[in-house]
Amino acid sequence: MINVAILGYGTVGSGVFKIINENNSHISRRAGDDVKVKYVLDLRDFPGDPVEDVLVHDVDIIMNDDEVDVVVEVMGGVEPAYTFVKKALERGKSACTSNKELVAKHGAELLEIARENNVNFFFEASVGGGIPIIRPLIECLTVDHVEQIQGIMNGTTNYILTKMEDEGADFDTVLKDAQDKGYAERNPEADIEGYDACRKIAILTSLAYEKQVDFEDIYTEGITKITTADFDYMKKIGATIKLLGTSRKVDGVTYSMVAPFVLYSDNPLYNVKDVFNAILVKGDMLGEVMFYGKGAGSLPTASAVVSDVVDAVKRQGYTARVFWSDVKRTLGGVDAFKTPYFVRVKPQAGEDIASLKNRVDNVFGKVEYISLDSKPEEIAFITDVISGSEYDKAAEGFDVVSRIRVSK
Ligand code: HSE
Repeated sequence: MINVAILGYGTVGSGVFKIINENNSHISRRAGDDVKVKYVLDLRDFPGDPVEDVLVHDVDIIMNDDEVDVVVEVMGGVEPAYTFVKKALERGKSACTSNKELVAKHGAELLEIARENNVNFFFEASVGGGIPIIRPLIECLTVDHVEQIQGIMNGTTNYILTKMEDEGADFDTVLKDAQDKGYAERNPEADIEGYDACRKIAILTSLAYEKQVDFEDIYTEGITKITTADFDYMKKIGATIKLLGTSRKVDGVTYSMVAPFVLYSDNPLYNVKDVFNAILVKGDMLGEVMFYGKGAGSLPTASAVVSDVVDAVKRQGYTARVFWSDVKRTLGGVDAFKTPYFVRVKPQAGEDIASLKNRVDNVFGKVEYISLDSKPEEIAFITDVISGSEYDKAAEGFDVVSRIRVSK
């Protein structure tokens, strides 16, 4: 018998409880042992819910019970999740989590503690919700050097951008809808300002390049400045706008950022809509491979968590080898990140459109203009590939309405 304790009975925790109960015989057969939820920890009570039979309010009941083999942490946030997971590992229990904040901050350390205690620390659901991406990255793509990762890693913002593009929908209404569906973070600022995607690309970059990437070092921009007018321009050129987490290695330097990007239809991420996430990995031997699925929501995320539980049971007695050293990787600066830019500018006081266009030609050099009948009062264009600092220098003196990087 394998006893599981779930820390947190929120969106994901209730999904984990449901999946282990409803698919029990299937899960137990795959794990090779009977899997049962012995405890669920939450501060709240849930009168009338089946969880009542196993609900506890004191974490020490779980930590002190030698019969608990696997602890599932789905509370979110760094504390007390970190303290609880660390303690569980030190007590010889494997731990599985969906908590990207915890993994981004303490992943390398918790992997080491798991190794010292001959147990496992798994975190498949921390990136891409239900999409298998962590295990493929560390167990399947073992041959390739990763040249680039590009991913739509936040379901809430992809949902919002899709509704803005397809329905011209109002930002706040769509956000509320995403919250009601259980996609959004407790504080949705984490979604719309890109902080959630930042933790996720930090985890993937640490795993792909084997050293600790601190999420604080990753340049992060959210979607709050994107407008439906930007999408009108995109329709004109057959492109879209997606919030991407991206990392790439160029001449031995690792760059990582979260920002909205213009994507053309030849990018496989172009068609990823609504709450779906997708992560495109480019290996030096394999070329491109894409992982696609539901990146948020109770059951998709819980499905990935329970797959970790099954893996932890199958690997009892030894620790899976994961290359993620706690040695910090220094990232290349956003100033040196090279990409084309989509830019909208408007005339300064007393300037006419023809003079503005002359200035754009003189300062930005080769650009591709995009004109919209509905926007005669401004000029929009796509620059050549330029670095962040070249863009900043060129944009000085312009009244910029909008600027979005363009995926190459
Ligand atoms: N708020 C996150 C999202 C949940 O929208 O993708 C999954 O991490």
